[in-house]
Amino acid sequence: MKGLKILGTGRCLPDKLVTNDDMRAFVDTSDEWIRTRTGIQTRHFCAEGESTASLGVKAARLALERAGISPEDLGACVGCTVSSDTAAPTVASTIQRDLGLPKHIPYFDLNAGCSGFLYGLHVTRGLLLQSDKPYALLVGAETLSRVMNFQDRGTCVIFGDGAGAVVVKLEEAPYAYTLGAEGSDDVIYIGGYGSKEPYIHMEGQKTFRFAVEMVPWCIHELLGQSGLKLEDIDWFVLHQANKRIIDHVAKKLGMPGERFYQNIAHYGNTSAASIPIALDEMAEQGLLKRGQKLLCVGFGAGLTWGGALLEW
Ligand code: ACO
Repeated sequence: MKGLKILGTGRCLPDKLVTNDDMRAFVDTSDEWIRTRTGIQTRHFCAEGESTASLGVKAARLALERAGISPEDLGACVGCTVSSDTAAPTVASTIQRDLGLPKHIPYFDLNAGCSGFLYGLHVTRGLLLQSDKPYALLVGAETLSRVMNFQDRGTCVIFGDGAGAVVVKLEEAPYAYTLGAEGSDDVIYIGGYGSKEPYIHMEGQKTFRFAVEMVPWCIHELLGQSGLKLEDIDWFVLHQANKRIIDHVAKKLGMPGERFYQNIAHYGNTSAASIPIALDEMAEQGLLKRGQKLLCVGFGAGLTWGGALLEW
């Protein structure tokens, strides 16, 4: 089976750190409410001059450096985002320009809500299967602070800005995937370009219920496809939407919480960037060892969901 090996990772968080107490300048909230309902303690917001693409470029540069590959061997570059700065140029094509990457390969962004990175992984694999180049660059980048309603306390305390990137190689390795969607605009809605309501609207409890049903379903689907058991998985890397969702999933599966990496306390929900940011942190901390099996699962706006089994 041709799977994807991650050779290098990178992340970029804006310098501006915003605490839960800082959010009280915008809405009637408290550190205690945000911590206990979500696990979030801080998030990063872009300052003037920073953008979705600029965060993506920095994360991508690090991932390429750490992978130690020649950019000439890249077969594709995919950006995953729900908060692109402009309809065009895309994050991916800005990365091409700013990093001087080879021109004659595909560069494009995809939007699959917070599942974007999982959609991106599978699309990237498909592109590499058709390419004579072995490597691809995949970047999740978001500036959700720019599509947030700072008068809505149900959403503005939850999201943050950031980018994560991975360089993957197509090679013989275990691989399984699942992707899906159920069209709905009454659970999560992001107005976007030219909309009268460009902001994120979210029915928190409906999203929560969707997540705690769909994430275990994805995990069982991936295990079923690969013939592995829960105990065979070294790390579960879930979209960082809410600590309570991750804890709930671990409990439902009967798995120790320590196998579920969490960093939501520091960054909030960074949508398509959350899983590659987590992978970069895990690599930096030496938590990931070659040969370990990872299950990554995302879920979110669309509604969408996606999962992948990877070997580190
Ligand atoms: N501070 C203080 N109080 C608040 C805040 C806040 N920031 N936000 C809401 N409240 C209040 C509400 O007004 C409500 O008050 P009331 O009882 O007087 O009416 C009370 O807290 C409870 O509100 P709920 O919305 O029921 O709170 P809940 O316990 O469901 O927590 C939350 C809300 C944290 C959003 C939770 O539902 C959640 O995490 N859902 C999942 C979100 C998610 O995972 N999103 C990811 C996908 S997003 C994407 O794909 C772009």
